[in-house]
Amino acid sequence: MSFDRIGVIDFGGQYAHLIATRVRRLNVYSEIRQPDDPIEKFLDYKGIIISGSPALSSFGEESNYNKEIFKLNIPILGFCFGHQEIAKYYGGKVINGGREWGETKFKIFKRDHPLFEGLFEIESVFMSHNDSVVEVGEGFEEFGVSFLSEEKDVHRFAAIGSDKYRRYGFQFHPEVDDTINGERMIANFIFNICGCKPNWTMDEYIKLQFERIKSAVRDHSVFLLVSGGVDSTVTAVILKNILGVDRLRLLHIDNGLMRKDESRRVVEMFKQMGFGANLHFVDASEDFLSRLREVYEPEEKRRIIGDTFVDVFTREAKRLNIESFLLGQGTIYPDTIETGGTKRADTIKTHHNRVPIIQKMIEENKVIEPLAELYKVEVRELGKRLGIPDELIHRHPFPGPGLGVRTLCSKGEAGEGLADLQTQIDSFLEKQNLSGIILPIKSVGVKADLRSYERPVLINGEYNEKIFEIASDMLAKTKGINRCIVNLLPYKITSAKPVKAYITRERLDLLREIDDIVNSELRAFGYYDRIWQCPVVIVPLMLNDKGEEMVVIRPVLSERAMTAKAALLPIQILNRLTEKISRFDKVSEVTIDITSKPPGTIEWE
Ligand code: XMP
Repeated sequence: MSFDRIGVIDFGGQYAHLIATRVRRLNVYSEIRQPDDPIEKFLDYKGIIISGSPALSSFGEESNYNKEIFKLNIPILGFCFGHQEIAKYYGGKVINGGREWGETKFKIFKRDHPLFEGLFEIESVFMSHNDSVVEVGEGFEEFGVSFLSEEKDVHRFAAIGSDKYRRYGFQFHPEVDDTINGERMIANFIFNICGCKPNWTMDEYIKLQFERIKSAVRDHSVFLLVSGGVDSTVTAVILKNILGVDRLRLLHIDNGLMRKDESRRVVEMFKQMGFGANLHFVDASEDFLSRLREVYEPEEKRRIIGDTFVDVFTREAKRLNIESFLLGQGTIYPDTIETGGTKRADTIKTHHNRVPIIQKMIEENKVIEPLAELYKVEVRELGKRLGIPDELIHRHPFPGPGLGVRTLCSKGEAGEGLADLQTQIDSFLEKQNLSGIILPIKSVGVKADLRSYERPVLINGEYNEKIFEIASDMLAKTKGINRCIVNLLPYKITSAKPVKAYITRERLDLLREIDDIVNSELRAFGYYDRIWQCPVVIVPLMLNDKGEEMVVIRPVLSERAMTAKAALLPIQILNRLTEKISRFDKVSEVTIDITSKPPGTIEWE
């Protein structure tokens, strides 16, 4: 069976994914397309959505895309930048100005239009724009206006449309949760205007994938690396169902960067799931750790870990005499995007399953990735249907490079620009009766869809909702910082010195113990299932001239990991954690990360 499909043109990096997942949630398959993709790629769509963008339509930024799409007889809906581009293409006018930001009222003029079925006359929508449409061309109408609280000061052309051309635009963002009835608006477009049928269900997807994999694998066998996380477990079960266990070899590599007891548990689990004789295990921790000696830079660490995975599995494939096998991977959609897999996504972090050697194998059709089109929520749904036990499906995600990206490294040098930043945050925090210090290390973050590598701020203050707001305001207003953490110990931190450190077994063992404490306590307090993930990070810092490892607890709430909010943990859990963690001699401090993504990322590297 074939599915009706919606193409989402990605002008906006991460946010295009919000649109695609919204459409999929309505049981219509949607794909991300690049603005300069050839026109042939768009012909099969029942509708096209153009995402928003950090670029300014008024200045013609990003104007170099494939405008042939406007010649297609397929309905098109644009959001924000997309809305402005549609207005412009059909003879309207866009100016730089008329900025609106945040929750805004949208008054609908054409409530009898199928695009607005089931909506109120006044809807609450989310705006975030600097450019505005001020005129529409022939054949277009103004479908509504926007205003803040009262119906004066209206912004015109909040929605526009032309039934003649079947082109529509919303200045606001229906894809974000803050647009209360945003999903209904998207549903109206895809069902009422494009005529899609809601036939993309998980059962149908499974059927289609089975056919695809069968024809891609033909009479080959598959060699699959399994970390034991949700993605690789679901991939293993899919491949076993399609190929039978005899044409499948699983390899679990202990890279030395796993959690406490993890490898033992993973091997046990796959045995229980019937993979028995075809499951191989190798302890390659020495290969990984020796190559990571004296390595400090996060992307270099990621590359080395990725390359070592490939070297180890190539060596093992030779040893097991299965070199001709195809390589299976549990790659999911965001893995390819965040590695810069689409043209508009900057390389934020190189994921281990997208290193150059693997890219080359993908080009040679030697890689099978049954989940490459799915988001994590969809993988979990699929796993449930395949009968995988709940406790496996709901395990928190764990990054491929494992504790390698949670063990920060330092050459022991503070680097430039600290004093200047310190002055800036001092004046900010003093106004709030707080204090803080700029830390002499850096962590990875994401700002306006681009990678940032900047300083964290450690704040001395009470951990509560107010401090979340202060931190977010300070991050928005201060260049050069991308993360805030709060001191959980009952004394002020006034100095921080970097300690020379790279990844060693000893440091990893310390992190394993602390990570185990955090996860056990989260489970004991019934919090594990309430959050998306809780990385624990160690940072080689001496604080107040004591200790050598600062511990960071990073609880986050998220749905797809493309964006995240820091979770507020109850003080009882934190008391228990600080009491247990501060017992380790090397620990200089226990902190909690309160940064959302953006501007932070979930992991520190
Ligand atoms: P960030 O830190 O980019 O993480 O906000 C988003 C999600 O991806 C996970 N992550 C990875 N997963 N290989 C993976 O399979 C990787 O290299 C990798 N890096 C980050 C991270 O744990 C979070 O869930």
